[in-house]
Amino acid sequence: MRRKPTGCRHAAVRQGKGNSMQKFQPRRIRLKTGEELVIREATPQDAAGLLDYVEAISGESDNLTFGPGEFDLTLAQEQEYLAAVQKRSTAIYLVGFLGDELVASLSFTAGLRKRMSHAGEFGMSVRKSHWNKGIGAAMLGAFLHWCRSTGEIRKVNLRVRVDNQPAIHLYEKFGFRQEGRRSREFHINGEFVDIFFMGLEID
Ligand SMILES: CC(C)(COP(=O)(O)OP(=O)(O)OC[C@H]1O[C@@H](n2cnc3c(N)ncnc32)[C@H](O)[C@@H]1OP(=O)(O)O)[C@@H](O)C(=O)NCCC(=O)NCCS
Repeated sequence: MRRKPTGCRHAAVRQGKGNSMQKFQPRRIRLKTGEELVIREATPQDAAGLLDYVEAISGESDNLTFGPGEFDLTLAQEQEYLAAVQKRSTAIYLVGFLGDELVASLSFTAGLRKRMSHAGEFGMSVRKSHWNKGIGAAMLGAFLHWCRSTGEIRKVNLRVRVDNQPAIHLYEKFGFRQEGRRSREFHINGEFVDIFFMGLEID
């Protein structure tokens, strides 16, 4: 069963006429800080903001698969990617905003072939200056709600560093279970780091 993120109140953003066919209904969420987080699907217009965001978060932790300067998509490639994700019923790229500030992202893609299209892996991040406000939980909650609404997605997977305690705590809170461990997934500053595979069955 889905757990409600701690300290958050959820409400669907009111939609104008004609928006009922949207793949993801945008949400406004009141955080425990009192701030309002808006979660919506990213569009190609978000490409430049997302490239800046990704460059910023790459230097804020060693928990991602890339470091500063390594995420080298061009603006056109990023726009193309976001447009492609928008069209797919089993992929999503969510962005979270506090006012105009892009503070969080979560992206998921299920397999393309029929036998693999029920399952996929996601990655998420929140700007460090906004950690521990409940934004990660709000993003994950909104994402899992969307997964359940698709009727197609039956398994959600992720990989996480074994020492990434806040992330593991967050995933376990939403019912994810550890399914395995792989050694030496990362090699950062001369140190190898293992990862856990985690997963959540969607029924
Ligand atoms: C992991 C991440 C997305 C969490 O985002 P967030 O907005 O801080 O998440 P939340 O505030 O919703 O939840 C964080 C939880 O971790 C807990 N936490 C914080 N530090 C912790 C620690 N050292 N050990 C265990 N739990 C910890 C918080 O108490 C909170 O749990 P609670 O709400 O039950 O009290 C964010 O830290 C991040 O972007 N990290 C860098 C990128 C990353 O690691 N991405 C995941 C890769 S798999």
